[in-house]
Amino acid sequence: MKIHGRNSVLLLCAGLVALFACQRDPDMAQPPGQGGNGPTPYQLSYPDWASTGSQQIIIPVDNPLTVEGIALGRKLFYEKALSDDYSMSCATCHQQEFAFTDPRVVSLGTDGSPGRRNSMAITNPAWEQFFFWDGRAPSLEMQALGPVANMVEMRNTWPEVESRLAAHPEYPSLFEQAFGSPGVDSMRVVKAIAQFERTFISFNSRFDRYEYGGDSTALTAQEKAGRDLYFGEAQCNLCHTAPLFSNNTIVNIGLGFDPDDAGLEEVTGDHFDLGKFKTNTMRNIEVTGPYMHDGRFATLEEVVDFYADSISSTTPNLDNHMLPFLDGQLGLDADERAALVAFLKTLTDTEFLNNPAFSDPN
Ligand code: HEC
Ligand code: HEC
Repeated sequence: MKIHGRNSVLLLCAGLVALFACQRDPDMAQPPGQGGNGPTPYQLSYPDWASTGSQQIIIPVDNPLTVEGIALGRKLFYEKALSDDYSMSCATCHQQEFAFTDPRVVSLGTDGSPGRRNSMAITNPAWEQFFFWDGRAPSLEMQALGPVANMVEMRNTWPEVESRLAAHPEYPSLFEQAFGSPGVDSMRVVKAIAQFERTFISFNSRFDRYEYGGDSTALTAQEKAGRDLYFGEAQCNLCHTAPLFSNNTIVNIGLGFDPDDAGLEEVTGDHFDLGKFKTNTMRNIEVTGPYMHDGRFATLEEVVDFYADSISSTTPNLDNHMLPFLDGQLGLDADERAALVAFLKTLTDTEFLNNPAFSDPN
């Protein structure tokens, strides 16, 4: 799979989204005062510098944000009726205080059976072009279809979820308010959840105040040294690229062969995709451990030691961007490693982690 090719197609779509935003669609919000009491359009707010040339917000044409849609999505994100035994909601494995990830190494299904991957943080997903560690879902809507029927997650079926919600005292009217007509179905469930997730916007860390807000006192001397390493000698920004701290790629960084998880190869069937995983954001990374697709590293210190010491040229498919890291060539000493970790911790956005708009509404 040529990720770069896919990126440009997706960018094109993002442009078309803006162009055709007024197209008619049955699930489309009707602006108030233009023929009905449809749902109320909602405008995301984020700083100007958060959208750069190649990294723009993506809102699907058939799922515009509305106040009522976001409110429904929030309720559904915390809804345990989505799981077979009413024990688990999306938030069980995506907890706000951890930037919407799960502190366990791998997630467990409702029957206690372990999955093989670490849960993923959900931070600024409106800018992202694919989801899951292997990038197999092309939108938040398609992503949200997965967990309900996954046997190491919610272990339910969509017809069962639909009938539970349709029989619920509140949901039918909430769906009608959110989509402008009656009806509870799986596509509406995932659309509402995706709308809620697109409001997860995090650009208010100390780094942001320093870098974009002109507050030169927001970082300590050690953190500034770490910042210079991150963007310079340690080359982290090549992939975890500011301001989103991701460049939307799926690459092999040399974690070694994992017999249980082929990464992107499982999606494409292409052996050249073996061991490729999603480059995720560094925003709020302080609270999203353990780290990597299998949760193998407990701390950021271990992650930095891995990049500094353990990238080996024997890894098949190693990404070209990793060549400067080979066999300890970075030469980071203990002070530099500590500075890099200190810098990563300046990306924590406490306002985001505590924003009451993202909490359980029930
Ligand atoms: C049992 C724990 C569990 C539950 C329940 C769960 N997830 Fe996840 N979530 C995970 C894991 C593990 C991954 C990574 C899986 C993979 O890559 O195959 C993930 C990945 C994601 C991602 C991708 C993030 C990214 O950056 O690519 C999103 C978004 C997400 N989940 C949203 C949801 C939503 C919405 C629900 C409820 C409908 C949900 N999850 C339910 C564990 C869970
Ligand atoms: C070639 C691109 C690339 C470069 C360069 C790179 N990373 Fe990564 N990083 C990735 C990918 C891909 C992953 C996910 C790998 C996996 O789980 O299999 C990752 C994962 C991480 C994680 C764990 C994320 C999580 O949510 O679990 C941290 C922390 C991290 N990188 C920090 C750094 C630092 C610090 C540097 C610079 C020393 C760096 N990275 C350089 C691509 C890169």
